[in-house]
Amino acid sequence: MENFSYYNPTKLIFGKGQLEQLRKELKEYGKNVLLVYGGGSIKKNGLYDEVTRVLKEEGADMHELSGVEPNPRLATVKKGIELCARHEIDFLLAVGGGSVIDCTKAIAAGAKYDGDPWDIFSKKTTAKDALPFGTILTLAATGSEMNPDSVITNWETNEKYVWGSDVTHPKFSILDPENTFSVPENQTVYGIVDMMSHVFEQYFHNVKNTPLQDRMCFSVLQTVIETAPKLLEDLQNYEHRETILYAGTIALNGTLQMGYFGDWASHTMEHAVSAVYDIPHAGGLAILFPNWMRYTLDTNVSRFKALMLNMFDIETEGKTDKDIALEGIDKLSAFWTSLGAPSRLADYGIGEEKLDLIADIAAKEIEHGGFANFQKLNKDDVLAILRASL
Ligand code: NZQ
Ligand code: ZN
Repeated sequence: MENFSYYNPTKLIFGKGQLEQLRKELKEYGKNVLLVYGGGSIKKNGLYDEVTRVLKEEGADMHELSGVEPNPRLATVKKGIELCARHEIDFLLAVGGGSVIDCTKAIAAGAKYDGDPWDIFSKKTTAKDALPFGTILTLAATGSEMNPDSVITNWETNEKYVWGSDVTHPKFSILDPENTFSVPENQTVYGIVDMMSHVFEQYFHNVKNTPLQDRMCFSVLQTVIETAPKLLEDLQNYEHRETILYAGTIALNGTLQMGYFGDWASHTMEHAVSAVYDIPHAGGLAILFPNWMRYTLDTNVSRFKALMLNMFDIETEGKTDKDIALEGIDKLSAFWTSLGAPSRLADYGIGEEKLDLIADIAAKEIEHGGFANFQKLNKDDVLAILRASL
């Protein structure tokens, strides 16, 4: 392992009816609350009414930023920062999926920064201060509820970056599986692909002696693979929603990543694709990740083989390690397709036209952000993976 320090101050409040805990948490912060949410799912499923009732009963002075888009945009973050200044906001409450939470993190940090907030999101500088914020998660996917990271898109420049700092951990996150009952089938699938991809990104490293971490990765993946088809058969099943919700948090709250950093090239490539074409994050991952795996397989065939044998039933007799690994990658792709995820960029109508631009953006960010640690990738490598994904 490499030396590491672990810091995660987010209080995780998990389970049925846990919204009541919001009352206690609110008492820690000031009265002026900015409620941040997306395109209306929380109004349809009744969560908006429940949350605003608690806020009113607790005497909060409530302001709202609605309409946060999937793949949240800089313009929306700026709107939120203005609202914070205008209403002297003390506390932000994100109610939604990863996009709403990421946008809230960006507003919280931007509200305490004097310059152009894009300096923070493009990592010219690190956020040193942020308004306090909490989250009520409604979609199991990103892990944003218990990590400091945020992904913001600058639509004018086709840039989409992940950034974060020690001041952008949520103070608390409330996770009630029932709040994910209304997530439609396609978003449920995207969430499953995203959390599995987070485990892969962390599992693929070149650091020696990580047996416990490896098994923790396998355990999350096995649990998700076992639960996902059952959940898709029965979207209102509390236990399956509970398992997937918890898996999404564990997959990216730093627990699996102690002692190494991971690869993160597939995420960087996906962020570049969705900065140019506004596609769902995990739709992009389902397409790119198997092709990244095929491209980098020779870096450490036995690591691939171990992963695949821990995820899928594969007959090993008479096969080389590489055969087994390749069969596993095919099985992964088939598993995601069986859930309903896309497998080709063409599924989103994406062709050759802008691949060069996407590869350029991704290669620069790989360099700038210190990603692609399992196997270094330059622009030509990224282009090859993108072409294989057409
Ligand atoms: O906007 P509303 O109306 O709320 O609808 C959302 C949205 O359309 C809907 N939804 C959410 N909860 C629902 C629901 N619909 C019905 N019932 C519910 N309970 O789902 C749609 C997608 O929501 P979104 O928040 O965009 O999804 P997700 O959680 O997958 O977040 C994706 C964003 O997170 C970033 C991605 O790049 C993307 O921008 N990521 C953030 C990470 C992080 N902060 O650590 C890591 C990830 O790798 C990822 O990059
Ligand atoms: Zn992701």
